[in-house]
Amino acid sequence: MSHEYAKAVVKEGDCVVDATTGNGNDTVFLAELVGCTGKVYGFDIQQEAILNTRKRLEEHSLLERCMLINDGHENMAKYINEPVKLVMFNLGYRPGGDHNIATKGETTMQAIHTALEKLVVHGLIVAVIYHGGDSGFSERDYLLKKLPELDSKSCTVLLMNYLNLPNNPPMLVCIEKLKQTEK
Ligand SMILES: C[S@@+](CC[C@H](N)C(=O)[O-])C[C@H]1O[C@@H](n2cnc3c(N)ncnc32)[C@H](O)[C@@H]1O
Repeated sequence: MSHEYAKAVVKEGDCVVDATTGNGNDTVFLAELVGCTGKVYGFDIQQEAILNTRKRLEEHSLLERCMLINDGHENMAKYINEPVKLVMFNLGYRPGGDHNIATKGETTMQAIHTALEKLVVHGLIVAVIYHGGDSGFSERDYLLKKLPELDSKSCTVLLMNYLNLPNNPPMLVCIEKLKQTEK
């Protein structure tokens, strides 16, 4: 679903952000979406994630249109000086990696605030929240407390939740920027 929302807004030539590159699946998807004239900024705090992502991109001949940054997405303002169309978060821990190295509600929320500054009007943030199991519930609970506090004149926050699936299925949050206000 997060990919479907991304496809609905991203056009060839756009600049987008993968806020959690992990093993690079979403980065490859986004790099294909923006085409050879577009650009993808990819962030991850794990060097191994950045290396895995670089390898995936090289395999698909997509590395040239990507800038991979081994830093937290909460610091994205340091690296991005252009308007972006979409920011994608795939929260939690890296599949196949250390389950203790995972996204955290406070830094994710900081990154969402910065992403709202960087987005063009009608640009989108898509965030998949994994919860339960090794992920626990603290990031989900933090985000579900803080996201409703975002100014409804500046953005809309949509939450999608599977009601009939077992084992704490992931939730999807889509935030659309409505106007240029945050600085
Ligand atoms: C669920 S994985 C991402 C999966 C990835 N999108 C893919 O397609 O393989 C979450 C990633 O977020 C990274 N992460 C955790 N905290 C972060 C932060 N503050 N900034 C950027 N990445 C972070 C983890 O290292 C992990 O690789």
